[in-house]
Amino acid sequence: MTTSGTAPEAPAVVGDEIFTVDHVTLRFGGVTSLGDVSIAQQRGEILSIIGPNGAGKTSLFNCLTGVYRPQEGSIHLTPSSGKTRRIDGLKPYKVSRLGVARTFQTSRLFGAMTALENVRVGVESTQRGGPIGAMLRLPRTLAEERDSDLRALHLLEFVGLERRSTDLASALPYGERRKLEIARALGTRPELLLLDEPAAGTNPAEKLALAELIERISKELLVSVLLIEHDMKLVMSVAERIIVLNFGRVIAEGQPAEIQRNPAVIDAYLGTSHDEPEAPDAGQGPTRTELDAPDGGAA
Ligand SMILES: Nc1ncnc2c1ncn2[C@@H]1O[C@H](COP(=O)(O)OP(=O)(O)OP(=O)(O)O)[C@@H](O)[C@H]1O
Ligand SMILES: [Mg+2]
Repeated sequence: MTTSGTAPEAPAVVGDEIFTVDHVTLRFGGVTSLGDVSIAQQRGEILSIIGPNGAGKTSLFNCLTGVYRPQEGSIHLTPSSGKTRRIDGLKPYKVSRLGVARTFQTSRLFGAMTALENVRVGVESTQRGGPIGAMLRLPRTLAEERDSDLRALHLLEFVGLERRSTDLASALPYGERRKLEIARALGTRPELLLLDEPAAGTNPAEKLALAELIERISKELLVSVLLIEHDMKLVMSVAERIIVLNFGRVIAEGQPAEIQRNPAVIDAYLGTSHDEPEAPDAGQGPTRTELDAPDGGAA
């Protein structure tokens, strides 16, 4: 099931793919953040990327959103309009217009703005009225402003923050801020939503609510979700498929149950040397527990 490797083979998944990453390599000086990574996501799928700290997960998001340009390989996006576009190296705002939105590993909300205003920023980033239209109060711009208020309110409701619309983002508890970031990202009407450790720093009840929210984003909004997460319980409960990165390489890919038992994955998380004798119940004993419930990770 592994998709890594040096052979220039076809993309791993064949079918209705929303994106394909083909043989992508990204280096920073001597560090290879991504080494010959080939992955793909099916439209509508909840796909999770996991791996230890420094594995290259956020680097992959940065390549998918135009923040980094990989030195080798290519990334293609196929929006539902059907036309496949090469997106590696495109400017982030262009990738966003093609239907890719993301949240960040560390909060990037505008703390001095209200919850509603934060979501409006997302909504308005896709509108074309522009600053001149706003200055001249053109009818089209005014209509867009009303629409964006309504849409932002709907999105706050969708993530369960409607009561918070007039609160400053900086005043919200941590778990609500993470939800607000998701609402803002949804404001751009994405077809693909990238979530970078959305559960980091949240409590168990918030993690449960987040799992439900991710499922609703997929089922009700028909948005494909690519999820980076260290919380294995959350990943195992929502992901339809999991890809594991370690030292910038894909080391495993499969269904949650397969991944939990995969010796290479267990090694990567526990740092077990291959020279050491294997535990008699590898995959069922402590290692499994470890994969079931490590918490946190870098925020
Ligand atoms: N802008 C950069 N400059 C130099 N090195 C970088 C840069 N971005 C990422 N790296 C390096 O690439 C490697 C992968 O980093 P990345 O942030 O993608 O890991 P990650 O899997 O997201 O880790 P974490 O779980 O800790 O968030 C690391 O060695 C990191 O130091
Ligand atoms: Mg990261």
